Amino acid sequence: MKAFVLERYGKKSALRLAEMPTPELHDDEVLVEVHAAGLNLLDSKIRDGEFKLILPYRLPLVLGHDVAGVIVKVGRRVRQFELGDEVYARVDDFRIGTFAQFVPVKEASLALKPAGLTMEEAASIPLVGLTAWQALVARADLKKGQKVFIQAGSGGVGTFAIQLAKHLGATVATTTSTANLALVKSLGADVAIDYKTQDFEDVLRDYDVVLNSQDGKTLEKSLRVLKSGGKLISISGPPDPEFGKQIAAPGFVKLVMRLLSSGIRRKARGRGVGYSFLFMKASGSQLREITRLIEAGVIRPVIDRIFPFESTNEALAYVQAGRAKGKVVVKIK
Ligand SMILES: NC(=O)c1ccc[n+]([C@@H]2O[C@H](COP(=O)([O-])OP(=O)(O)OC[C@H]3O[C@@H](n4cnc5c(N)ncnc54)[C@H](OP(=O)(O)O)[C@@H]3O)[C@@H](O)[C@H]2O)c1
Repeated sequence: MKAFVLERYGKKSALRLAEMPTPELHDDEVLVEVHAAGLNLLDSKIRDGEFKLILPYRLPLVLGHDVAGVIVKVGRRVRQFELGDEVYARVDDFRIGTFAQFVPVKEASLALKPAGLTMEEAASIPLVGLTAWQALVARADLKKGQKVFIQAGSGGVGTFAIQLAKHLGATVATTTSTANLALVKSLGADVAIDYKTQDFEDVLRDYDVVLNSQDGKTLEKSLRVLKSGGKLISISGPPDPEFGKQIAAPGFVKLVMRLLSSGIRRKARGRGVGYSFLFMKASGSQLREITRLIEAGVIRPVIDRIFPFESTNEALAYVQAGRAKGKVVVKIK
C-alpha cells in the first residue's frame, strides 16, 4: 500500500511517500480502506519529536490519527462490524497510521460513519470531537447554566467544543482573531473575544470551566477568570502526575511531569481551582454519542481545506502554521 512515512524525527523532516506492507490485522481489529484522513497538530508534533517522552514511537512510522473509510477485512473476534461498513475513528496510540491506503482499527475504537456526512467530513471529527467530549462531558461534567471558556474557538477543537458546550446548555465564551469572529458566533459562542484587540481576562469573570489549548501565559491568566471550585482543563500541557499514572509512564517521566506542572498546580490550589491535563483517547462508544449529535443536526463539521493525498506534507505544514479555520483533511480515495 502507499503510505506517508516518518523516517527521522525533526522539524524539517518531510514524510516520504513510500510503498509499505499492509499492516497485519489483530483479532480484535478491522482493516479499513482509508478514504479520508484528518490531520491534527499531534501529527506534526510527533514528526518534530516533541512527543518522544509520552509516545515513544520507533521509526519508520506511518503518521495519522483520524480516519474515515470502508471495512475490507474483519478480525476473528470482531462482533459489531462487517465487511463494507462505512466507519470512522481516532485510531489507538501505538497503532496509528491513517496517512495510508489501509489502516487496522480496534473494534472498541470504531463507530459507523454518521449518515449524511462525506468521508472527508467524517474524517475531520474523531480526534477533536473526542477531545471536546472527554474535556467537557467526561472530565468537567459541564451542566446547563454553567459558563465555559473555550480558547481558540475557530480551531479544530474549538469549532467542535463550542457546539458541544452549547448543546449541553452552557454559556460559551471563546477567543479568536477578528477575521473569525463571525465563524465562532455562527457556531453558537455567546461571548466572542477578539484576542487582537481585547484581553479575555478583562472580560470574563467567575467561569466554571476553562478549556485551555494555548501557551503557559494563557494558562496562568485562565486561572483568574475561574470561580473558586472551577476547573482548568488543559490540552496543551503541562502534563500532571495523574496523567503520568494513567499512561503508566516510567518513573523519570512521571517526575518530569510532576515538575513541569508543579507551578500551575500550586497556583490553582491557591485559588481553589482544579487543574488537570487531558490527553484524549480513542473511544468507539463516545464516538457513537458524537454520531448521534451529528445526525440530529446538533453538531456540524467545519472544514477549512481538503488536500489530495500526494500533498500530505503541504497539508501538515498548513495545520502547523496555526491558522486553520476548523479542520484540514487529506482525500485518499
Ligand atoms: N491533549 C489533547 O488530547 C489534545 C487534543 C487535540 C488538540 N490538542 C492541542 O490543542 C491545541 C489546539 O488544537 P487544534 O487542533 O484546535 O488547533 P488548530 O485547529 O490548529 O488551531 C488553529 C486555530 O487556533 C487559533 N488561534 C491561534 N492562536 C490563537 C490565540 N492566541 N488565541 C485564540 N485563538 C488562536 C487560530 O485562529 P486565528 O487564525 O483567528 O488566530 C486557528 O483558527 C494544539 O496545541 C493541539 O496540539 C491537544
